[in-house]
Amino acid sequence: MPAVVVIGGQWGDEGKGRIVDLIARKAQIIARYSAGHNAGHTVVNDLGKFALHLVPAGIFSEMTCVIGNGVVVEPAELIDEITILEGRGVSTKRLFVSERAQVVMPWHPIIDAADEELRGAHAVGTTGKGVGPAFIDKVARMGLRLSDLADADSFAERLSFVLDYKNRVLTRLYGREPLDFDEIFDSYRGHWTRIEPYVTDTSRICQEALSRGDRMVLEGAQGSLLDLDSGTYDYVTSSVPSSTAAGAALGVGISPLDVNRVVGIFKAYQTRVGNGPMPSELSDAEGDRLRECGQEYGTTTGRPRRCGWLDVVAGRYSIALNGCSSIALTRLDVLDTFEAIKICVAYEIDGERVERFPSSRRAITAAKPVWEELPGWLTPTSGCRRFDELPTAAMNYVRRIEHLLGAPADIVGVGPERNEAIIVSPII
Ligand code: GDP
Ligand code: IMO
Ligand code: MG
Repeated sequence: MPAVVVIGGQWGDEGKGRIVDLIARKAQIIARYSAGHNAGHTVVNDLGKFALHLVPAGIFSEMTCVIGNGVVVEPAELIDEITILEGRGVSTKRLFVSERAQVVMPWHPIIDAADEELRGAHAVGTTGKGVGPAFIDKVARMGLRLSDLADADSFAERLSFVLDYKNRVLTRLYGREPLDFDEIFDSYRGHWTRIEPYVTDTSRICQEALSRGDRMVLEGAQGSLLDLDSGTYDYVTSSVPSSTAAGAALGVGISPLDVNRVVGIFKAYQTRVGNGPMPSELSDAEGDRLRECGQEYGTTTGRPRRCGWLDVVAGRYSIALNGCSSIALTRLDVLDTFEAIKICVAYEIDGERVERFPSSRRAITAAKPVWEELPGWLTPTSGCRRFDELPTAAMNYVRRIEHLLGAPADIVGVGPERNEAIIVSPII
């Protein structure tokens, strides 16, 4: 049975975790394929509210959950997440972590912060978790994989080589203190003892599941506009594999031919956390109102998210890039009290109307939104469970988005809880 990829269609935080939690029960295996604990996926269900950073949102359905080889793993964070989940009655017995996954080491957050400082006015606004530097080390062939922690002697040998290099970089380039070998060795060997039972060849687990005919959901992190190749470079994240659907097969070790469907998750408006261009941003009272109505504060860092109206120029770009056959539209309820709602349908760049997402830094920074205005519905939508129960203006808003994006909405989110959703067409 083929795999479905769930991706973020915007700049992250679209509600991917929530949608995966909703559809996971119809699948047998759920896997994260990219990024690290810079991701923050919120799930609200009968057990309460959870913020997941590494563990797939399918964990609540007691399905097989995989942290794939494309994820960078901070072992202490993983242990914390497992401890919290187990403490709240969520079993992690069916969680498996790839032995090929790269490890986030203590120098990574230090370099993350130091790089941001050096960039000064050009700072990316990273989450500060060290995830970017961990991927840089992966590409530079300076990384450690989880399997490197397994054997004390070979771990010591690898750590000694890499730490020697890193300490030279920390002291000579960044003017920081060197890190201590013994401290790192002991703490990571300690982490290994705790996570060893979870670590295995997850690519084999995924391949065998697919050959059995199991249904698989690949849970994307971040969003297409944050992607290293396709996003608003250099205000992007540094995940290799890509956070788009193109990275999914690579990040869990299956064939790209196993993926047969991609669903794009979109908020009913636009947010971004961190720096970088955002043409439909509202830097005024209306933007503040969106932030307050949506409680738009980062799941990982608590930073206020920048808010604006839905940008369908960027949305169409994401859909084409990922091959989304449909979307899930979340947070429609956040717009319940707005008298009028706008959509950014085009950009004006140097006096010209532009309907395609530009690639140049200059053009995307210069882009001004061209708005289309629709009436609001001024009625609560959280209780709606069928599409035709929505107020007419809300139905018209969703239909207009579907038309502008060229993709139907399979799910419409009307609240954060698992059941606060309208399933128009089941994804699985
Ligand atoms: P992710 O990173 O894509 O998983 O998204 P986050 O968890 O970072 O942010 C999405 C936020 O929106 C979370 O607080 C969710 O609980 C919340 N959320 C998801 N869907 C809905 C919805 O339909 N309505 C409302 N009000 N909140 C939602
Ligand atoms: P989820 O999976 C929103 C943003 C950061 C910053 C940029 C680079 O929850 O949607 P990084 O720490 O990755 O080097 O920061 O990317 N960013 C996210 N924004 N949601 C995320 O993940 C993000 N992961 C990274 O804010 O702008
Ligand atoms: Mg998030």
